[in-house]
Amino acid sequence: ATTLGASAAASGRYFGTAVAAYKLSDSTYSGILNREFNSVTPENEMKWDATEPTQGQFSYGSADQIVARAKSIGAKVRGHALAWHSQQPGWAQNLSGTALRSAMLNHVTQVATHYKGQIDSWDVVNEAFADGSSGARRDSNLQRTGNDWIEAAFRAARAADPAAKLCYNDYNTDGQNAKSNAVFAMVQDFKSRGVPIDCVGFQSHFNAQSPLPSDYQANLQRFANLGVDVQITELDIEGSGAAQATSFAAATRACLAVTRCNGITVWGIRDSDSWRASGTPLLFDGSGNKKAAYESVLAAL
Ligand code: XIL
Repeated sequence: ATTLGASAAASGRYFGTAVAAYKLSDSTYSGILNREFNSVTPENEMKWDATEPTQGQFSYGSADQIVARAKSIGAKVRGHALAWHSQQPGWAQNLSGTALRSAMLNHVTQVATHYKGQIDSWDVVNEAFADGSSGARRDSNLQRTGNDWIEAAFRAARAADPAAKLCYNDYNTDGQNAKSNAVFAMVQDFKSRGVPIDCVGFQSHFNAQSPLPSDYQANLQRFANLGVDVQITELDIEGSGAAQATSFAAATRACLAVTRCNGITVWGIRDSDSWRASGTPLLFDGSGNKKAAYESVLAAL
């Protein structure tokens, strides 16, 4: 096939991108989106600060625009993210204890209900583990409501939208390390106790300090072996030229080698769309031209 989405679909997978609603009117951006991708993740529009800026008052306009575009091009939607320590509205940042727990669960229920039946996979909980060697949970206002906040969020999401796949999503978990071991133990525990979890997302933001790990495929496989799907959810790789193309192809091949790796999402379309302050970490240049990295991914799919 001649596009990322169609090539991924040939092996039953999707190839997606993060999308910003305000860019949908940019014809270069939209043209590439409509042509190449069969999954979209709202880059910011489904986050807590965007969807519930005032407690109990929900705001879905921008996210709905992205979902409508996805529908019109036959793309899946990855919902991102229901419960996260970052990008919380100010009112939530000021809550704690049972008030915060109830507000979080209500948020999960309301947003998952609004999008019921329209989301392929939800990042129910994002980035809940600490970096480094502790294997501990990240300290956050949500964590301080009790260690069971993650499973409570997953149960609320399942009740609201039983058809959506429910994912745990994180970064620096791409290879085997203390952080991914801790996530692994949580998924194992959830599976053994019947807590609803269907997938694990690996953000896969790579750069010189944090390159594509040599055990990436093995790590994806060990999670898949627990009985969950695995997804590459926010892929970007700093660099340029042949070296960057080689890394993008290796990441793509790692997913394809794992039966339960059912999709890859890059975190933006053109280099100029990247969340990174500088660099050229994506598949299209600032003018929307295909880079070597694009060609290597297409060839690997
Ligand atoms: C980023 C967005 O790309 C930026 O536009 C925003 O300013 C900050 O968040 N991990 C995640 C994503 O799960 O939600 C983040 O997205 C990138 C890191």
